[in-house]
Amino acid sequence: MIETTLVIFKPSSVARGLVGRILSRFEDKGLTIAGMKMMTLDEPLLREHYAHLVDRPFFPSIVRSMTATPVIVLALRGRDAISTVRLLTGATNGREALPGTIRGDFSMSNQENVIHASSSASDAEAELKRFFKPGEVIDWTPQNIDFLYAASELS
Ligand code: PPS
Repeated sequence: MIETTLVIFKPSSVARGLVGRILSRFEDKGLTIAGMKMMTLDEPLLREHYAHLVDRPFFPSIVRSMTATPVIVLALRGRDAISTVRLLTGATNGREALPGTIRGDFSMSNQENVIHASSSASDAEAELKRFFKPGEVIDWTPQNIDFLYAASELS
């Protein structure tokens, strides 16, 4: 199934100048950029986004971390994009993420783990709505689509 998923370039990638290198990994893989913008997060939005973590002792630290610089939100599209992007992203804790994954190659931390990626179809749908306004995620087909997929993978 063709899916769209959300990635957030956290302050740990923006401040370290890693955005271009990480974005290249997704482009090299063949995922299509469907939306991208820089924005500043605030506590109410983070309470919604990390609703399952608001009662955890480390939540105030997440808020400090995610508001330290602007972030870049990215909508990526492709066949099975949600699980594929999670696979490229690697385990939450950068120290445990496998080499070759984005976190495995760029992070030493659980919190400063460079990007967030939606974990399921329902999360992706809710998160894309949370961070993009209507019309900001664009439905378009790249010209090389027939060299990225077999026809059967696009139906
Ligand atoms: S959990 O802990 O399994 O219920 O949470 P998960 O859905 O994997 O999300 C964890 C996100 O919280 C950020 N974070 C931390 N996680 C664990 N321990 C500590 N101390 C911690 N500090 C921050 C972590 O980076 C995950 O953020 P995302 O944006 O999902 O990668």
